[in-house]
Amino acid sequence: MSGGSMIFGSEIPNHHLKWWQSAVFYQIYPRSFADGDGDGIGDFPGIIQKLDYLQDLGIDAIWLSPHFPSPQYDCGYDISDYKAVAPEYGTMTDFTHFLSEAHRRGIRVVLDLVLNHTSHQHPWFVESRSSRNNPQRDWYVWNDGRRDAAGNQIPPNNWDSTFDGTAWEYDELTRQYYYHFFLKQQPDLNWRNPAVRQAMWDAVRFWLDLGVDGYRLDAIATIFEHPSLIDYQLDLTVAQLRHQFRNASTQDERKQIHSLIEFRHSLQLRQPGMHELMQELRTVVNEYGDSVLIGEEDTLDYYGDGDNELHLVFNFPLMRNEQLTPAWIRYNQQERLAGLAAISPHTWPCNTLGNHDSPRIFNQFGDGVHDFQLAQLSLALMLTLRGTPVLYYGEEIGMTDLYLEDIDQFRDITGIWQYHNEIQEFGTPADQALRIAAGYTRDKCRTPMQWQNTANAGFSPAGIQPWLPVNPNFASGVNVRDQLNQSGSLLNFYRGMLRFRKNTSALIRGSYAPIHEGAKEYLAFIREADSQKCLVILNYSAAPQDILLDFTHQPIQPIFSNQANRVTEPVQHQIQVKPYEILVAAIGNLQAG
Ligand code: GLC
Repeated sequence: MSGGSMIFGSEIPNHHLKWWQSAVFYQIYPRSFADGDGDGIGDFPGIIQKLDYLQDLGIDAIWLSPHFPSPQYDCGYDISDYKAVAPEYGTMTDFTHFLSEAHRRGIRVVLDLVLNHTSHQHPWFVESRSSRNNPQRDWYVWNDGRRDAAGNQIPPNNWDSTFDGTAWEYDELTRQYYYHFFLKQQPDLNWRNPAVRQAMWDAVRFWLDLGVDGYRLDAIATIFEHPSLIDYQLDLTVAQLRHQFRNASTQDERKQIHSLIEFRHSLQLRQPGMHELMQELRTVVNEYGDSVLIGEEDTLDYYGDGDNELHLVFNFPLMRNEQLTPAWIRYNQQERLAGLAAISPHTWPCNTLGNHDSPRIFNQFGDGVHDFQLAQLSLALMLTLRGTPVLYYGEEIGMTDLYLEDIDQFRDITGIWQYHNEIQEFGTPADQALRIAAGYTRDKCRTPMQWQNTANAGFSPAGIQPWLPVNPNFASGVNVRDQLNQSGSLLNFYRGMLRFRKNTSALIRGSYAPIHEGAKEYLAFIREADSQKCLVILNYSAAPQDILLDFTHQPIQPIFSNQANRVTEPVQHQIQVKPYEILVAAIGNLQAG
C-alpha cells in the first residue's frame, strides 16, 4: 500500500462546526417540485406538502431557486421584484408558512440572489430606460455606441452575450444601447453605482429579517465589465464558436475552441471590484449571525481571506469532466483542497454534481449499462468527500434528462434561441436543429418531480398540462412512491446513506487523505476525526478489486456498504471489493463520532 501523500484539512471539533458545514443541501426548482393548486406549475403549498418527504430523506437545508415575481424569460432568473413572491408560487403568507414549516423540521432555507441583472420589467429598469435624464438611468449600463464608416450607429464593441448573440440591445426611445451578459430581457445592473448596492442590500436584508438562512449567489463572475469596452481581437462570435465546438472531432480541438470561448468572454468576467463587493455583502450578512453565502463560481478567489467573502464556493471543476474517474477525482481534490488550504484553515469545500443548468447526474455520469451503480457512487462521493454536499431535486430517484421533441414544448429561451439560430445562421435542417437544441436547453433537467406512477407523475392532477412535459419514465419505476416501497431502490440507498453520514462524524468534519493514489479502478481515502478514522473505498469498475490494506494491525470493520453482508464481516488486511462497491470501514476502535 502506498502511503497518503497529503492530508488535507485538520479535523474540526463538533461544537465548532457551523450548520452549513455539516448540512446536506438539496436544491428545489420551485416551478418543478410540486403543484399544490393544480395549475401545472409548482408552488409553495406543494413544497410544504413535501417537507415531510425531505425530512425523511435526510437533507438538512434547501436551496430554493428564484421564487420572486418574474416574466420568466429565464425561468425566474429575471426578477421583476426582489421583495415579493411570484403569484404563481403563492403569497407571502405561503412563503413564511413554508419557512416556518421547514425550520420546524430542522431544515434551513437558502434563497437565490441574482445580483448581475434584473428583468427588463423590473421598475428600476422601466425607470432607467424611460429617459436619459431619469435618476435611475445610471442603474444600468447604457452606451451611445459607435458610428460605422457610413455613419450608422452600431454597438460600442463586439462583445457577445452568453445566451442570445450581441451583448448590446438598442433602445429606440433614448437611442442608446444597454448591456446584457445574459438575455436581452436581463439588463445588467451598474454595480459601480452605490445606489444599486443599497437597493440590493435592502432586498437582502428583507428576506434575512424574515428568517432565511442565507443565499446562493447567482453568476457573480459577470457583475463587472472591463471599463475600457475594447473589442475582442477575434472575429468569430460565441454562437459560431459553439457551432464549431459541436462539430469538432477530437478532444484537443474541443479544448482549443473552449478556450477561445473563454477568451471571447474574458473582458466581461471576473473584473476588478468583485472582491470589495463580496466583502460588502458579507458585512451585511454577518449582521444575521450564522447565515451562509454560497457562490456560483469556479474559482476559489471568492473565499477572500477565508473569513471576509463567501463561506462556500461550488467545486464545479469536479463535475466538468466527461467521466468521474478515480484519477480525475483525486486530481480535483488535490487541486481544490490544496488551493483552499493555501487561503486559510477556515475555508470549507462545497461539492456538487448537478443543478438546474447541467445534465442530470444519472445520465451524465452513467455509462448506459451501470447507471444505477454509478448513481450510487456519485452520492457516495458527495457524502464522503470533505465538504458540504449539494444535491439536486430528483437525483435521489434517478431522474434523467428529457429530450423535448417539439419546439413548442421548450421554455428555456436559450434553447429556443439556439434552435432558431442554428437554422438561420448555419442552415441546419429543422429536425437536426431541434435535436441540437433539445440537448442544449436546460429544460431537459428541469422537468417536474416524479412523485408516483399516476397521471403527471403525481406532480399535477390528472388532466392538467404541467409547464414542462413530465418524463415518461415515471411509469417505469422512476418515482418516489414506487422506490419507497422497494428496499433496493436508489431512493432507499439515498435515505440510508444520508442517515449513515449523519451518524459518522469523521465523514463530516474529518481530514481527508488519499491512499493508493496509483489505483486506476478505485478511489480510496481516509477521513479522520479524533474519535474516528474511516477508510472509504469507491470501486468505479465492473470488476472486483483485490486491495491490500495496511493499518499496522488495527482492526478494520466495515460500517457501510452497498453490498449485502459486507457490514457483518470484519475485514482482513486483504480485501476483495465487489464491482461498483461502496465501502466505508472504521479503522481502529469503533467509536461513532
Ligand atoms: C446562473 C443561473 C442560470 C441563469 C443565469 C442568469 O448561471 O444558474 O440558471 O440562467 O445565472 O441568471
